[in-house]
Amino acid sequence: MVETLKMEINHVKQSRINEVDFSNIPFGKIFTDHMFMADFRKGEWGNFRITPYGYMPISPATPAIHYGQAIFEGMKAYRGTHGEALVFRPLDNWSRLNRSAERLCMPAVPEDVFMESLSTLIDLDREWIPDTKGASLYIRPFLFSADEYIGIKPSEDFTFMIILCPVGAYYSTPVKVRIETHYTRAAQGGTGYAKAGGNYAGAIYPAKLAQNAGYHQLLWTDGKNHEYIEESGTMNVMFVIDNVLVTPELSDSILAGITRDSVLQMASAWGMKTEERKVSVKEIIDGIESGRVTEAFGAGTAATIAPIELIGYNGRDYYLTPVEKREFSNKVLTELEGIKRGLKPDPFGWVVKM
Ligand code: COI
Repeated sequence: MVETLKMEINHVKQSRINEVDFSNIPFGKIFTDHMFMADFRKGEWGNFRITPYGYMPISPATPAIHYGQAIFEGMKAYRGTHGEALVFRPLDNWSRLNRSAERLCMPAVPEDVFMESLSTLIDLDREWIPDTKGASLYIRPFLFSADEYIGIKPSEDFTFMIILCPVGAYYSTPVKVRIETHYTRAAQGGTGYAKAGGNYAGAIYPAKLAQNAGYHQLLWTDGKNHEYIEESGTMNVMFVIDNVLVTPELSDSILAGITRDSVLQMASAWGMKTEERKVSVKEIIDGIESGRVTEAFGAGTAATIAPIELIGYNGRDYYLTPVEKREFSNKVLTELEGIKRGLKPDPFGWVVKM
């Protein structure tokens, strides 16, 4: 890629890569040698720099810390058979970042800043892309307000950063989820469709209550009557009902997941009927009991396709078909992983080589 951004690069003196056990990578705990930073000052992006990964000084009055004016993205890169970095749908993450930015009153990150910083950073740390099965390089771009100001108003200064993280599986087993009938992840007119840090902060406590009761995560329902299913944990949720792929339709309380969209496109290309519509709790519970709901899974970048083993509702657990017997979600996981890793053709043009 031709570099056009004026970027200062400060290399690490000594890489930490030899300290990492790539045969046993946890999720989200190991960071590569370098990180990217850019500042938005006086209405313009600048000061593009790559520095050694590490702590950074910020003002104690930073609004991002006080009021949560912070958004993020999640993407993955895989090592191709010739050592190249294969990044999955980065432009979709870029456009979603900017949709989130608009909602949180933040400046858009230009496409060239996003793509060039990403490719330069990945190129520097390409040795960190795992080639072990089930592992990948998780890419975390994020944007936060960086004013020094106590008070609520649109900020003027912002920082955009990218950090990289070799990761293994997000969930090591099929997930047990509980339908949430009291707490709300996102309300109508709120920020649920944006990847705003605050959405996740507010979800930790209800998720912890479910975890204390033996579940991994929640099945979030609408904030009005808790009648319709919205998302699962930090993922979108999808079902196979009477051989149709069904998922809650997008709204301002549901994140437009890129894995969700990929699964919908793949299913349609295979000739499977898909429906994006309201999915009620009743439809799912009755459907599990009658055998019409045969599969349920979460879809997200971190977890990819996370099969749902059982759904807890009103004190009872409803078990779905054993995971090994699930035709669609097993096939979509294998095909999607194959495309992402460059092992299968990419008819959708999703993979970007860097
Ligand atoms: C992702 O799937 O990339 C997410 O954003 C989930 C994250 C909170 C780990």
